[in-house]
Amino acid sequence: MIDIHAHILPSIDDGPETIEGSIALCKVAEEDGIKTIVATPHTKDGVYEAKSREILKAVETLNHRLKENQIDVEILPGAEIHIHEGLLENIKNKDALTINNGGKFILFELPFVFIPPGTDKFIFNLKVNGIVPILAHAERIKGFQKNPKLLEQLVAIGARVQVNAHGLTKRASSRERKCIEWLLKNKLVHFIASDTHSLKGRPPILSEAVKCASRIVGEIEARKLVYHNPQQIINGIDIN
Ligand SMILES: [Fe+2]
Repeated sequence: MIDIHAHILPSIDDGPETIEGSIALCKVAEEDGIKTIVATPHTKDGVYEAKSREILKAVETLNHRLKENQIDVEILPGAEIHIHEGLLENIKNKDALTINNGGKFILFELPFVFIPPGTDKFIFNLKVNGIVPILAHAERIKGFQKNPKLLEQLVAIGARVQVNAHGLTKRASSRERKCIEWLLKNKLVHFIASDTHSLKGRPPILSEAVKCASRIVGEIEARKLVYHNPQQIINGIDIN
């Protein structure tokens, strides 16, 4: 499986504090059958400002340490970019990393409490400029919990949707679970990812969520969200 949303790099955001913590997360991911993890530290969210250079260096170091520890997981560079003016400029000058650095896909996040006016135009503008924005953990955003149908329009203009594995489990709030169920039934989910920060809360485990999703959309569709779709975007190919 491929996990496209993970705070796995040490001391760069609110993920693990040490490289040993990162390695422990990767070990759990490996045991779950995850082969590739896109490291997506918070960027431009007003608190964390992971620099592209630091991310690339940290990915290289972690991959090296994983090899030394014989953990068969590959880390690719990326970022979780908070929506902000100048985002397009930041992508162009590489201040904000695309998924696997160099492709056209970005993982972006909206505020949890409201959907900023003009988000649709923002997405459209990215798309026109050749960038495909993947909305991080859609089910955690109150506006979509209340009205998941809003995502239909955003997907129609080019957004892709990621939901958290945690949101499908019994440990999630019913608002999050209901939102994901509706999105799955309406074919508006493109990726399930862990959004892991630590072993507690949201560990890098996807298999349990795939089982839950299989009960809603069937096994073939559920597996696409952790195998085929993430592989496509890593290869630079858009998905429907
Ligand atoms: Fe995240």
